[in-house]
Formats: sequence, structure tokens, C-alpha cells
Amino acid sequence: MKLADNKATLSFSNGSPSIDLPVYQGNVGPDVVDIRKLYGQTGLFTYDPGFMSTAACQSSITYIDGDKGELLYRGYPIEQLATNCDYLETCHLLLHGELPNATQKRDFTKLVTNHTMVNEQMQFFLRGFRRDAHPMAIMTGLVGALSAFYHDSTDINNPQHREISAIRLIAKMPTLVAMAYKYTVGQPYMYPKNDLSYAGNFLHMMFATPCEEYIVNPVLERALDRIFILHADHEQNASTSTVRLCGSSGTNPFAAIAAGVACLWGPAHGGANEAALNMLGDIQKQGGVEKIGEFIKQVKDKNSGVKLMGFGHRVYKNYDPRAKLMQETCKEVLHEMGLENDPLFKLAMALEKIALEDDYFVSRKLYPNVDFYSGIVQRAIGIPVPLFTAVFALARTVGWIAQLNEMIGDPEYKIGRPRQLFTGSTNRQVPPLAQR
Ligand code: CMC
Repeated sequence: MKLADNKATLSFSNGSPSIDLPVYQGNVGPDVVDIRKLYGQTGLFTYDPGFMSTAACQSSITYIDGDKGELLYRGYPIEQLATNCDYLETCHLLLHGELPNATQKRDFTKLVTNHTMVNEQMQFFLRGFRRDAHPMAIMTGLVGALSAFYHDSTDINNPQHREISAIRLIAKMPTLVAMAYKYTVGQPYMYPKNDLSYAGNFLHMMFATPCEEYIVNPVLERALDRIFILHADHEQNASTSTVRLCGSSGTNPFAAIAAGVACLWGPAHGGANEAALNMLGDIQKQGGVEKIGEFIKQVKDKNSGVKLMGFGHRVYKNYDPRAKLMQETCKEVLHEMGLENDPLFKLAMALEKIALEDDYFVSRKLYPNVDFYSGIVQRAIGIPVPLFTAVFALARTVGWIAQLNEMIGDPEYKIGRPRQLFTGSTNRQVPPLAQR
């Protein structure tokens, strides 16, 4: 963080003295006005619900230029990573700052692979859930419960604990998501198979049974790996900020990541892939492609509360570069699975076309986001709709950890403690019960 040549001057119309505020520059992107001393100097807070203009931290992990539709992990464009690297290489990049060389890749893969099993006791914990529990309810519980099983990696201030918890989380998330799935369908859990790739192993744990051999389909394996890469990090989004805020109290890494899982569940965030597919299902039930016009009318009506799920983004106001890559994968997977004529996929494509031409969406710069296509791809792979957000959580875990570790290592980090503009009752006396 570099001090800029200019300063910001804040002046007041009531005659209070104006103050100068330092401005800092990053390597790219908007400068920031440092308001840390504002309250001390003026007795004022700033007000920014939704963090529309607030940088909550400095970070060197992920950069997004929403106007250009650019996404960089540690400087590398997402398009190059999605085309030339696999997910574990991307994990190494996010965690350690650089892509691994061949030896580092082998060692990192081995390290992660060594931790893919979960404590056998976890399955008894899982049994406490109803069979029809939502997978994200299960995941919030299971990830939080890891802190009860791995006591040697719960001290967030100990770099070795952070390192081992990072590897454990990356290694065990696929196992936990697959266990959550197998539990809800009543099938036996499949243990990890460490000679498979990260994505291949996940497919195996999801879809294999002990009764017959399961052969991993390379097209689906690559598609899933791409989903993981595209979701691996996304700078200071809601769940990442949740992880940082939760971790800022010094809580253990598993608890902080469980908080991220809980936040991701919401339909405005990671839950959008599930919500998008449910939306398509609803339109399909009401009559399919013929009903798109009626549906779009509802979306445009502000009083209906209906949104086109999988469209729009807080930061991308041009296009979501992840969506472009996911769209390619979507075509490959639909072709591989012979699903090009599936009515739901046809509906999705028709909806996308109409929305992209409609003035309401064009004028508001609302484009399909990654979740619109990732939901379609996951459904084609055979992943049940309620599990979509859990797959997103699996992929985002590395980003959450990288951001959490970066925060702990930042000498400027403090416990997060936002302030407020109070609009409730001022001091008043409790009346006796008979007078209330
Ligand atoms: N359908 C219809 N109208 C929309 C949509 C949508 N999906 N998204 C935004 N708008 C409208 C919104 O009503 C507003 O209109 P107006 O200016 O007339 O009031 C305008 O577009 C600007 O929207 P906003 O609500 O100010 O935008 P935001 O930055 O606060 O919200 C968002 C971003 C992603 C929450 C929102 O676009 C949305 O709810 N999309 C659907 C859910 C979704 O797909 N989320 C996944 C995001 S990508 C994955 C991730 O990062 O988790």
C-alpha cells in the first residue's frame, strides 16, 4: 500500500474545521481514502451499508475489474488458469502466491491426497441429521465440527496450525460433500480413491457404489475441475468477508470457514445456482418456453419480488468472465451427455437469449453470471440441485483460507467491529409491568 501524492480534504458546511485524509494506492484499481482516524478527529463515522464504497482490507490475492470483465488470481487471468492449469495448481497459487513447478505440484498433490479421509467418527455425527436435511445445513455442521476432530490445527495464530488446517479443509471438503449426498440418498459412503485426480475422486465418491466399478468420464472430470477453478476465489465477496470477520476474533479456521459456508448458502450469493435451476423448473412446470414472456414481465415488475436468478452481479457490469468459460463447458457437457435437447436446457438457452436482448436487462447491464451456467452443468453431470451450493463451497474453501491467512499475517489487521447510525429509542425508564 503506497501513499498517494494527493490527499482528500473533508470539509463541513457547519463551520467545523476541515480535515485532510491520506489516500493510498494499490497496484491497480481505485485508490482508497484512509478514514481510520476520522472518528478520533471529528467524532463522525462513515455510513456505507452493503460496502458500496468501502475497501475493508488490503489484499494481493484476487483482482476484479468489473467494467472490463477481468478476473485475476495472483495476476493470472482466469481464462489462462482455466485452460492451462488444474484446480490443485490453482489452490497452490492462491495459498502460496505462485503456480507450482513440477516438483511442487507433485508434493502439493500428495499432501492434499494424504488428507482426503475424514475421521471415521464424522459419519456418526452425520447420522444426527434428518435424511432430507438440506446439504448446506449439513455442510455448515460438518465443517464446523472439524474443529472438534482436529485439535492439532485449531490455533489460528500458529502458522503450522493454519497450514495443516488449510490442507485438511481442501482435502476433506469433497469427502464431506459426497458424504452429505450419500447420506441423503441412503447409499454407503465411498472412501476417497487417492490415485484419482481431485475432481475425479469427487465424482467417484459421489457416484460410485461398492457394487460395481466406476469409471471417471474425462469430460465430466475436466468440467468439474473447471467449476472448481472458476469458483476458487472472488476477492471480498459476502462469504469471504464473513470468513475474515469471523476469523478476526481469533476463532479457529474450521469455525471461520463454517461461517463462510453459512453465508454462501444465501440465494443472492452461492445459492443462486440452485435458485436458478429451481426457477427454470418452475417455468417448465408452468408451460416452458411459451411462458418465458410472462415470467420476464414478472421480473420487470418491481412489486413482484421476482428476480432472474443467475443474472446480474455487484461487481461485473460488463460480463462475468467466469460465465463465458462456463458457457463453453456447458456446451461440452451437454454434448457429452446427449442432453442438447433436454427441455430444461432448451428453456435455459431460450431465457438467456431473450434476457440478453431485452432492454430492461441491457440497460441495467445484467448478464448471466457464473451460477446460471454452473447450475446447468452440474445438473447435466448428475449432481442433484440442492447440492449445487455445497459444490461451490467446496471450490471456494481455498479462497476463504487464503484470504483468512492473508488477514492473520497483515500487521494492520484488527478484530472487525463496524459501527452504526443509531435510530432507536434513546434512554428511557422501564415501566412497571402493570403500566406497559
Ligand atoms: N433480475 C432482475 N432484476 C435485477 C437482477 C435480476 N437478477 N439483478 C439486478 N436487477 C435490477 C435491480 O432490481 C436494479 O434495478 P433498478 O435500478 O430498476 O432498481 C438494478 O438491476 C441494479 O441491481 P442491484 O440490486 O442494485 O444490484 P446489486 O449489485 O445490489 O445486486 C445481485 C447484485 C447479484 C445480488 C443481483 O443482481 C441479484 O440478486 N442477482 C440474482 C442472484 C444471483 O444470480 N446471484 C449470484 C451472483 S454471482 C455468484 C456469487 O458471487 O455468489
